[in-house]
Amino acid sequence: MKSAKSINKKKIVRNVFDQVHDKYDLMNDIMSLGTHRLWKKELMNSLKNHKNKIILDMASGTGDIAKLLCKDQNFKKIYRIDPNHLMLKKGSASFSRYQNIEEICALAENIPLKNSTIDTYVISFGIRNTFDPMLALREAYRITKKGGKFVCMEFFKVKKPLLKELYNTYSKIIPKIGEIVIGDKKPYEYLTQSIQKFYSQDEFKKMLEMNKFKNVNYVNLMGGIVSIHTAWKI
Ligand SMILES: C[S@@+](CC[C@H](N)C(=O)[O-])C[C@H]1O[C@@H](n2cnc3c(N)ncnc32)[C@H](O)[C@@H]1O
Repeated sequence: MKSAKSINKKKIVRNVFDQVHDKYDLMNDIMSLGTHRLWKKELMNSLKNHKNKIILDMASGTGDIAKLLCKDQNFKKIYRIDPNHLMLKKGSASFSRYQNIEEICALAENIPLKNSTIDTYVISFGIRNTFDPMLALREAYRITKKGGKFVCMEFFKVKKPLLKELYNTYSKIIPKIGEIVIGDKKPYEYLTQSIQKFYSQDEFKKMLEMNKFKNVNYVNLMGGIVSIHTAWKI
């Protein structure tokens, strides 16, 4: 049975993305001062060699990751999955000329794909929004083929004191920017709080190992503001 806490998070997250979907891309550029584009390019380095691969862009949102993957045109198929119909649809037009991209409105905790379907699972700034990250990882493992790769990019924890202080100060400004751009600060208060509440890089590494993933590693970008975890199903 689902706990009241997870039902509540699901509702909060859905409201947040219902509210921001229209200006999501613009806000990303403003908030990260454009650096999210560099982080996503870095993520692509972990997704090399996807020729003839079936890739799942989980928590696809407006489709930034699928768009970057499309630039290579090497993949066999991309599934874009997200529970928020408005976010998915906001990006849909960019993929209209592709036959091999399928959009599915679903949760990371309950993926409507058969066991061992995909070669690569990628989730960018999505795992923190799931209401049950452990269940999402279990599902990721289930639908990945043996020999397949898991790649996750997420906001994590900054350790260096000076950078931490700067980052904390900047985090307080983000909701104010949200108020100016989308007319409401609450979705961006959620963002900063959800980063604070989320696991550390090492805790998340352990969670992947607990879900049977092997060779789990991570790299920190900008001192750990963002980290990329990679893992394998062997
Ligand atoms: C910050 S956006 C990330 C979008 C895109 N991947 C990117 O990097 O720009 C987070 C996305 O996670 C989705 N999301 C929220 N809860 C989820 C869940 N339980 N399972 C999968 N995705 C979820 C939201 O609807 C939203 O589109």
